[in-house]
Amino acid sequence: MLLLLLLIASVCSASANTQTYTDTDTDTYTNADADKDKDTQTSSQCQHYSLSNLTPTNYGYTGALNLVNPGPYGGDVKTLQLFVYFQTQQIVRIKIIDPTTQRWEVPYVNQMPLPTNKPQFIDYNIKFQRDNFGFSITRVSNGEVLFNTSPPADCYTSGMIYEDNYLEMTNRFQETNPNLYGLGERVAPLRLQNNFTYTLFAKDQGTPVDLNLYGSHPFYMHLSPSGNAFGAFLLNSNAMDVVMQPRSLTYKVIGGVFDFFFFMGPTPESVVQQYSQVIGTPYMPSYWSLGWHQCRWGYKSANETFEVIYKYAQNNIPLETMWNDIDYMNMFQDFTLDPVNFPADEMKLMIEYLHTNNQHYIMIIDPGINTDTSYAPYNQLLSSGGYITRPDGSAYVGKVWPGFTIFPDFFNPATTHFWQGQLAAFHDMVQYDGIWIDMNEVSSFCNGDVCSSQLTSDNSHAAQQQVSLHSFDPNNPPYLPGNVSLDMHTINLTCVQYGNMSVYNTHNLYGYSETMVTVAAAIDILQTRATVISRSTFPGSGHHAGHWLGDNNSEFADMYYSIPGILNMNMFGIPMVGADICGFGGNTTAELCARWMQLGNFYPFSRNHNAIGSMSQEPYTFNEEVTAISIAAINGKYTLLPFYYTLFYQAHALGTPVVRPLFFEFPNDPNTYALDTQFLVGTSLLVSPVLDQGATAVVAYFPAGPWYDYFNGTRVPDSLYATLVAPLNVINVHMRGGSIIPTQPTSVYNVSGYPITTTIARTLPLRLLVAIDNNNQASGQLYVDDGISPNTYEDGQYTLVNFQLNLKDQIFALEASIIQQGYADADNMFMETVTVYGAADPVTQVMVDGHGYTDFTYEQSTQVLSIINLKLPVSGMFVINWYSD
Ligand code: GLC
Repeated sequence: MLLLLLLIASVCSASANTQTYTDTDTDTYTNADADKDKDTQTSSQCQHYSLSNLTPTNYGYTGALNLVNPGPYGGDVKTLQLFVYFQTQQIVRIKIIDPTTQRWEVPYVNQMPLPTNKPQFIDYNIKFQRDNFGFSITRVSNGEVLFNTSPPADCYTSGMIYEDNYLEMTNRFQETNPNLYGLGERVAPLRLQNNFTYTLFAKDQGTPVDLNLYGSHPFYMHLSPSGNAFGAFLLNSNAMDVVMQPRSLTYKVIGGVFDFFFFMGPTPESVVQQYSQVIGTPYMPSYWSLGWHQCRWGYKSANETFEVIYKYAQNNIPLETMWNDIDYMNMFQDFTLDPVNFPADEMKLMIEYLHTNNQHYIMIIDPGINTDTSYAPYNQLLSSGGYITRPDGSAYVGKVWPGFTIFPDFFNPATTHFWQGQLAAFHDMVQYDGIWIDMNEVSSFCNGDVCSSQLTSDNSHAAQQQVSLHSFDPNNPPYLPGNVSLDMHTINLTCVQYGNMSVYNTHNLYGYSETMVTVAAAIDILQTRATVISRSTFPGSGHHAGHWLGDNNSEFADMYYSIPGILNMNMFGIPMVGADICGFGGNTTAELCARWMQLGNFYPFSRNHNAIGSMSQEPYTFNEEVTAISIAAINGKYTLLPFYYTLFYQAHALGTPVVRPLFFEFPNDPNTYALDTQFLVGTSLLVSPVLDQGATAVVAYFPAGPWYDYFNGTRVPDSLYATLVAPLNVINVHMRGGSIIPTQPTSVYNVSGYPITTTIARTLPLRLLVAIDNNNQASGQLYVDDGISPNTYEDGQYTLVNFQLNLKDQIFALEASIIQQGYADADNMFMETVTVYGAADPVTQVMVDGHGYTDFTYEQSTQVLSIINLKLPVSGMFVINWYSD
């Protein structure tokens, strides 16, 4: 009888939403499905392990798993050890290892120490199926089963498989076609397909829809029919497929261990926050990096680059940061300058000019170090020993832009030293402000060993030797995720890194490791926060750096895909993200670029970037209309910088996303579940861009409001869908009732002289936008610091203000209260205007700190109240009241 296979739970004293623990609450629980199936015999076909010795520990459970039936590819681990760690009330970790042989485990990423005891309350209930082992996780508050790996009696799903080079685990869902999100990196709609296989393996392969791209993120979010969200993170860096079926999701992984973290939410936002507790909250970006960036591949000289800077100024378009691609290098070698087209003296002048105007400079660095024997960095890397090797210890040679290259091993401390030294020496020549790291999947134009065969006979001999030594081919393991040789467009997975780590295991961590080392070097060299943007990412990358979505095309479809792209990265804890604005590959058009400039200035990271050979797409290259649209779009971002920066503070302190899908805020509204043509900035601004060629209107969805036109305060009529007028110069943005956002309007400040930069923008008078909700309330925050020093938040060197609007006895009260006062310059920042949307009753009286105030206007038709000419220091409390006589 199946029931005999199960241990019966002792009763937990459960509160409404949480589970309370007592010392006796340490038995296992019956499996709900097993109860249902009690008269049927479990088929053994799908049984691989049985559970024994399940024992409560101070932190959860441990138990032994014993092999019953082997899996398909051999090398089944006979005995495994199960650990269940009750990490927090909402986070449970389940880890299954081979207790006798050390398998590969991901270093660095996990920021969460093992618990030493159980939390007092838990929101989850774990059940185990002893025979035909599996476990399930249930939400205590409503009993919904969130993750269930116990095979049912009919073996509809299989039990866990655990072999040398293959792990399999299936989670079956309670509902059919669940709403699932995540599993990146890829170009795809936001909501995942329910009948599809997603491959996770970092790859440089352009941006084809649905295929695996530059980063690997084995995290997904599940939004239940109840509107509750749940998250599952598999901390594993090996290549994997995640096979989605309408009732199940199967991980098929080629190595490492099962190390799951489950997040109970219950809101989508809280799932992301809980995930960030494991992988680290996002880094605090420099203020200036939120400004406007111009880049391209194909600026042929310092002169041409300078011309772009000049034309920006001439056209009155704000430019925060000028970038150079590989063009600046001498023969595409890192840490060099093309002596003819990018001579050091011209570069110096150009960067000095930028710095004089409060602008910045970033250039690209690729990881591959050219094997040219007269190239100093090559010799230095060789002598440091910090490069990736072949199994025989010789340097592995691949091919990237400069030709043959060796690859720094960023896990090797010798490489940290090498990289830091190169970046420091290069900074002496080129005073860069940030670093763009590319090609770090790691990309190599040879597939695996193809390059070696083009090299010396010594090396090709080594290659042959290696194949004959290993019958197991790591590039083509018995189970092949994505069904494409894993060494395609990258280095051979037989390669070896520091401490004998195999690239078979570390491949997905290359970009992550380069990011950590580059960020540490940048902080050290610049003595400021690092501004680093990386193409390849892994969970935890966002703790250090930002990301761009890679090589898109100048197509309307690609502009649309950028939205799910940035939303996903925000779910993955990498909020500093944007796509190549106006499109990378192919030729853009004036219309597409205008639309993309508008949308892209709502990305957290806003950069126009273009491929070599494509037509120019700087905002001034089209016509006066596109120039004007671009100026307005960039000014729009600068106006919102206090808001974005506050969102980044919240991300850094609390792990929240900066931009988010609508379902995050409206999880009970099914119309939002697949909505990815609109998005929210914070919880307050709804961006509804035009994404179709030729369109001059956009049909936008408005979840429960009220909603107001962000630009003029007009209230949107209460209906779910609205057709919004959107001629080329308009992007529709709406503000959600209940929110207060700080802004610094910039538009009037760049009519003469040099266009605005964030340095100037952050000194301008502030304007508070207040949108009243149906309860006559609103709230918001403002975070300010110096925008550049490392650790201002950690050191308390910041000022944080809460804004709260309430209505009492027919009198509105807007109160500013200081939460933290650690940034002295906040005394010199002043709130000049308070604009209130949705002031339904005519306002006749305004009081500021208890005194009558007459500098205000009230517009009956739009219900907008504007209180002007204030001079309220950001570092001080204030109360503003208004009412009708
Ligand atoms: C890669 C990058 C792209 C860059 C190019 C040349 O394709 O993704 O952004 O411009 O390399 O460095």
